[in-house]
Amino acid sequence: MGNAMKNLLITGGAGFIGSNFVRHMLAKYPDYRLIVFDKLTYAGRLENLQDVLKDPRLTFVRGDIADRAAVEQAVREHRIDTIVNFAAETHVDRSILDPDSAHRTNFTGVYVLLEVARQFGLERFHQVSTDEVYGSIPVGYFKEGDPLQPNSPYSASKAGGELMVRAYHETYGLNTVVTRGSNTFGPYHYPEKLMPLFITNAIDNEPLPLYGDGMQVRDWLYVKDHAAGIDLVLHQGGSGEVYNLGGGNERHNIDVTRLILKLLGKPESLIRRVTDRPGHDRRYALDCAKIRALGWAPTHTFEDAVAETVDWFVKNEWWWRPIKSGEFKEYYRRQYAERLATATAL
Ligand code: NAD
Ligand code: DAU
Repeated sequence: MGNAMKNLLITGGAGFIGSNFVRHMLAKYPDYRLIVFDKLTYAGRLENLQDVLKDPRLTFVRGDIADRAAVEQAVREHRIDTIVNFAAETHVDRSILDPDSAHRTNFTGVYVLLEVARQFGLERFHQVSTDEVYGSIPVGYFKEGDPLQPNSPYSASKAGGELMVRAYHETYGLNTVVTRGSNTFGPYHYPEKLMPLFITNAIDNEPLPLYGDGMQVRDWLYVKDHAAGIDLVLHQGGSGEVYNLGGGNERHNIDVTRLILKLLGKPESLIRRVTDRPGHDRRYALDCAKIRALGWAPTHTFEDAVAETVDWFVKNEWWWRPIKSGEFKEYYRRQYAERLATATAL
């Protein structure tokens, strides 16, 4: 595979995982040209790429993956041979408040990218998906062949996008791969998600709104390990195949919360129990034998990676403070004002 790959369209490359992936690829592949194609929604930020934007191998194009003409133009102009699609509306809570944009980007947007990939006969299409497409599992581990039973508008739209990828492989022979990543964390993580929200709230001595009993389980994956896993599957994954990509770090939300407070030297009295997320998945857990057989393994322990992440947020207030004082404030009010007003202490 790798030989034909030269000009990669990295859609959603100005977001959290996409920008970390861009950094990983520039460091590892001196001959690749990367074209970041990103709508710059509230979650997409050029600041995420500030240290690499001047690299002559990187080009930024502002555009919407659901806009066929814009995608066609980028593919034609930059002689794209490969698409790696990170672009998505990624926050479950926002998808509950406003399912429309999740459906448009995560389903229709993927369809448009696939159509353009078919039209131009691209070499490879990598869809970055999520373990949430499986739904919740009380015990055991999801395998790639298990049924998809998504429970939120976000995960349903991601599952829909993935199934379209499958159809384009089966029907048109498009060379596709899919990775289903688990809960990712690290530098440049938008502070609406559990880890960066709780780290930044704790720094400011603000309450940490923990949903329900806090006993939900997520499998945590450091963003650098996620980027390396996508790189491996992009180059070595079998056409039409799907790969689970999980960190193997199952933790209860309450334990993640306590770890963050401990690392920052802040009191547990900051924790508030608030009304649960509707349709909240109780547990995600992945069987990752397939990607491990390809040669991937996480290289960071959970505790070290969380410490590194907390340290990054402490040192990079320039990055997250402007976010938390902008559009975010209105979202925070909609999502949390009522919850915090009726919260109980731990
Ligand atoms: P993010 O919200 O930080 O970034 C998403 C990026 O996509 C932003 O730069 C945004 O501007 C861009 N975007 C959104 N809609 C677009 C559109 N219509 N056209 C072009 N660009 C658009 O997300 P993230 O956490 O980096 O997630 C990246 C991908 O990884 C997503 O597909 C997500 O479903 C998947 N994923 C995320 C996690 C996680 O824990 N964060 C885990 C597994 C899989
Ligand atoms: O599993 C992969 C998925 O992980 C990705 O596909 C999504 O894009 C990503 O957002 C993430 O989804 P989650 O819903 O698991 O992540 P989030 O950080 O929103 O929540 C993690 C857990 O913490 C979840 O059980 C809900 C809980 N939570 C979250 C927030 C924001 C709280 O208790 N309080 C909160 O304020």
